[in-house]
Amino acid sequence: MQLELNVNGQRQPVDAEPDTPLLYVLRNDLALNGPKYGCGLGECGSCTVLMNGRPTRSCVVPVKAAVGRAVTTLEGLGTPASPGLVQQAFIDAQAAQCGYCINGMVMTAHALIERQPHATHDDIRNALHHNLCRCGTHLEIVEAVALAAQRARAGAAT
Ligand code: FES
Repeated sequence: MQLELNVNGQRQPVDAEPDTPLLYVLRNDLALNGPKYGCGLGECGSCTVLMNGRPTRSCVVPVKAAVGRAVTTLEGLGTPASPGLVQQAFIDAQAAQCGYCINGMVMTAHALIERQPHATHDDIRNALHHNLCRCGTHLEIVEAVALAAQRARAGAAT
């Protein structure tokens, strides 16, 4: 079935069954590989995208639910040559080990800072509570988000 999505500010026609997980369409049809397949059950957060600005687990959302909504993936926040605010903070804080969870951490952190630039360490921990990292880089991740929030408060664009 022909569907039209709005992904990273661009109209994207796709041919997909309406109940196909959004994650599959993003990765397989649109080559947007920022969101990762982890559990496939909505539990780990590695597949997180923003839908109308809200962190959303794209592995359990059917693509039809994205029609008429603005979808933002990791690729929509910046590029390797020009990383977004949160992406740059993760680089500066070296807040990754294997990196598999980082998509979800960055997307969730971006949404948090957009709505709450004065987020405290507790706010950050609460926001990321359901994003799993098996490497154990949680401390560096929280510091990266705190750094991004500090930069946002100082006037840097997210
Ligand atoms: Fe979607 Fe784990 S892959 S929450």
